Amino acid sequence: MSDSSFSPDLVIRNGLVLPMVADGVHFRGEIAIRDGRITAVSDSTIEDCSTARILDASNAAVLPGFIQGHVHVVQSLLRHQADGLELLDWLRLRTWPYEAALDGDGVEAAAELGIVELLCGGTTTALDFGTTHDHNRVFRAAESLGIRLVSGKTHMDIGAGAPVALLENPDRSLSDAFELGQRWHGAADGRLRYAVAPRFALSCSPGLLRGCAELARANGWLLQTHAAENGAEVEEVRALSGLGNIEFLDSHGLVGDDVILAHGIHLEKADVRRLAETRTTICHCPGANLKLGSGIADVPGLIQSGIAVVLGADGPPCNNRLSIFHEMSLAATIHGLRYGPTALGPWAVLGMATRDAAAALHMGDEVGTLENGKAGDVIVVELDGWSALPGGDPASRIVFGGGPHMVRHVVVAGRPLVVDGKLVDVDAKALRHRIDEAWKATRRRMEEVQ
Ligand code: GUN
Ligand code: FE
Repeated sequence: MSDSSFSPDLVIRNGLVLPMVADGVHFRGEIAIRDGRITAVSDSTIEDCSTARILDASNAAVLPGFIQGHVHVVQSLLRHQADGLELLDWLRLRTWPYEAALDGDGVEAAAELGIVELLCGGTTTALDFGTTHDHNRVFRAAESLGIRLVSGKTHMDIGAGAPVALLENPDRSLSDAFELGQRWHGAADGRLRYAVAPRFALSCSPGLLRGCAELARANGWLLQTHAAENGAEVEEVRALSGLGNIEFLDSHGLVGDDVILAHGIHLEKADVRRLAETRTTICHCPGANLKLGSGIADVPGLIQSGIAVVLGADGPPCNNRLSIFHEMSLAATIHGLRYGPTALGPWAVLGMATRDAAAALHMGDEVGTLENGKAGDVIVVELDGWSALPGGDPASRIVFGGGPHMVRHVVVAGRPLVVDGKLVDVDAKALRHRIDEAWKATRRRMEEVQ
């Protein structure tokens, strides 16, 4: 066919395609994209692409962009400066004072740092947690950098050890979230979405939690929070409410197929049954859980119980990287301690980071697999790096041998954002300068408060 009105504007050529429609499926082929959508996933050469831009995928795998189910890009400026602490001290001594000290420029520079790291590491969609203020700046960074971001400001109105600057009047906090959602949900051709984000049980009064659930459901937005991450956290929830962490969230509307709970480590049998029957998703964050010494979620057990599990890097100061490769490799190895080395295979883990995450984020029609009509979110991961050689199952090579340094190209909605490992349209030197200045100013304000 030579009618150029049907010819693609981008072709990804000569790669090993893993469309992630089913475990094990892979073939040598090409992807065509037109007007931001996939128009062909082919095992032969795509003809009639004389006007298309070509991205080379030889010696590389072609995958749907990775999707993370829990990150905090706004915490990026604190990276490498909050080590050696368990969750509650990590929050009270470092992370909350940092978030309180951020100004709008700090929020935006932190978001930019987090987003470029995600993109360069092949993550094209993330469910993101903000701080309490200046959340417009996160969306602005996401809008200009081109990532697909589902994000919301966090809500906090109570809590021992929380700086007063982060505690908000619940009604004001909810109306702020409503305005943010009105402005950003569906913006940038649908690339940006809103998700309501109460911080965790210890930061929210029952009224605020219920308000969050009502706000999300009235608008069709997702809900995200942290749950059962740390033993001391769970004990404090019980001391304050008389309930288990999941019971407490459940009693205020924070379970359901529109809810993504980060962590889910310290769960009782009844919690697991309740999460399964309400179709609540757990986001497994093994990197952060190991670094904070929080524990290991029983992911094979959760999956066996019918719970959807996705993956996330959590915050830069508790990981200290936003690499889906790190999370995939941990998820595919640590559960062997309890269940033996076949606990979670590389295809299952790749599925969690693509197809399963898309479904959990209610974006399964849009992203998560390479199929005609879906958004053109495609990544090319090199298979000729030393740790991916010499051969073997491609999922094994990516999950056990892969890393962000192997990401060659990243395309979101048909727009190439990373080409040959380099960010397109970003002045990296100027961004480094903004990050540096923003961290210095934030650190000064943190010191003034002490
Ligand atoms: N629980 C409440 N807030 C946070 C946070 O910012 N990070 C993590 N890992 N857990 C939390
Ligand atoms: Fe988190």
